[in-house]
Amino acid sequence: MHPSATSEKDSEPGLPQATFRFRCIGCGSVTHSAAQNFRCSQCGNLLEITDSSWNSRNPTALKTLWRERRSLSAPLDLSGVWRFRELLPVPQSEQHVVTLREGNTPLYDLPQASRSTGVERLYAKHQGMNPTGSFKDTGMTVAATFARQAGYRWVACASTGNTSASMSAYAARGGMRSLVLVPEGKISWSKLSQALDYGALTCQLRTDFDGCLRLLQELVLRAPVYQLNSINPFRLEGQKTLALELLEQLDWQPPDHIIVPGGNLGNSSAIGKALVEMLDLGLISHLPKLSVIQAEGANSLVRTLREAGGQRLVSVQAETRATAIRIGNPASWEKAVKVLDATGGACEQVSELEIAQAKAEIGAEGIGCEPASAVTLAGLKKLLRQGFVKPEESVVLILTGNLLKDPDFTMEFHRGDLFHGTMYERESAKLNPFRHPPVVLDATLDAVIKTLDQAEESGPTHSNV
Ligand code: F0G
Repeated sequence: MHPSATSEKDSEPGLPQATFRFRCIGCGSVTHSAAQNFRCSQCGNLLEITDSSWNSRNPTALKTLWRERRSLSAPLDLSGVWRFRELLPVPQSEQHVVTLREGNTPLYDLPQASRSTGVERLYAKHQGMNPTGSFKDTGMTVAATFARQAGYRWVACASTGNTSASMSAYAARGGMRSLVLVPEGKISWSKLSQALDYGALTCQLRTDFDGCLRLLQELVLRAPVYQLNSINPFRLEGQKTLALELLEQLDWQPPDHIIVPGGNLGNSSAIGKALVEMLDLGLISHLPKLSVIQAEGANSLVRTLREAGGQRLVSVQAETRATAIRIGNPASWEKAVKVLDATGGACEQVSELEIAQAKAEIGAEGIGCEPASAVTLAGLKKLLRQGFVKPEESVVLILTGNLLKDPDFTMEFHRGDLFHGTMYERESAKLNPFRHPPVVLDATLDAVIKTLDQAEESGPTHSNV
């Protein structure tokens, strides 16, 4: 039942020859197939995919090829993931590919945040513009493809919401069934509703994300389900394309900094892997610093680095309203530590109030994102204060999820209820200038005109200043 790692035979014209193997990130040993838990049979560390042919490719020819594909209309070329297939594991047949035209996400400038932070070259790569509204889709297209190729009937994940939404969509497209394990009451309704609509068997477990993931690890050893959490190395290969596409959008000039939220730490690992591979291949001349930002209440990586020098995981009991990153025992922490080392990035934490303010500020740019994504702007402000980021440097924030992913958070924030009854209640008054609560009025012209006049008199909101 394990996906085959070699696909030299049966390769179709148009698909590059795949020679990938699985390499342990701990002891470095290389194998042809991954166990169900994607861990090294010798040292127990996580596996990653490696391909001996990647380094022998011509970087200039690749750049031209990838750019040309943007004007083509074959299914693989329309995908912002498979467009970069020379640096991905490819399936035996194009027929196995499960795609929803993921990737190809916009890189926005952030004029208001640029002004308020003083960082002139500040950009947001909005992965919330993917088909199911989060960055998970770029990894899921690859992992679902290999699950389908291997003939799995069931795929499964533990999730704080976005993985489950994405996995169930790709499973549905690929003709597979999906099993979702989510913490009861701790994921947003909109993410949960996606899984339901895409036909997942959705189990709300009375535990947190970490409890769901633990249970899944046991389940995959007992039941014929294929695990699509981010420890699945195929997921990370797909998520690499975020960095490839970003660098292409920047004409292959690396920014000084890339800032990404940290939860289970798959995404930072994938972006870091892509950056290192791009450097090895000569696609870029130097590495950007990749920094990871966590919520204060879910700061396992921050503590792992500060208290254990990155040598052992410091788990935490996670608590944050940014529910997507409410994770206390991140599976890919070792990969993330390596990436921070390789790129010279920082790891920081931000408070609930800082997250809420940053989310409102990104919303005021006309873009919006979910709370977990907003840690990037909050983290940037902190890294600027610390002098780690300099205003004259270029910075890309990775916005991981769409604004519509967590409407409860947004509504509670604007109504002024978000911190009601919490230790932040008093301090949260300073966020009032960022709130735009709805106004309930009688349905008369007078009432609306009066409200309009009052709004005009009270001056522009902070966002228009
Ligand atoms: N941002 C969003 C919107 C997320 O959904 C997640 C993770 C992250 C950031 C953190 O990324 O785990 O790769 O470090 N969500 C997972 C899920 C865990 O189940 O949807 P990470």
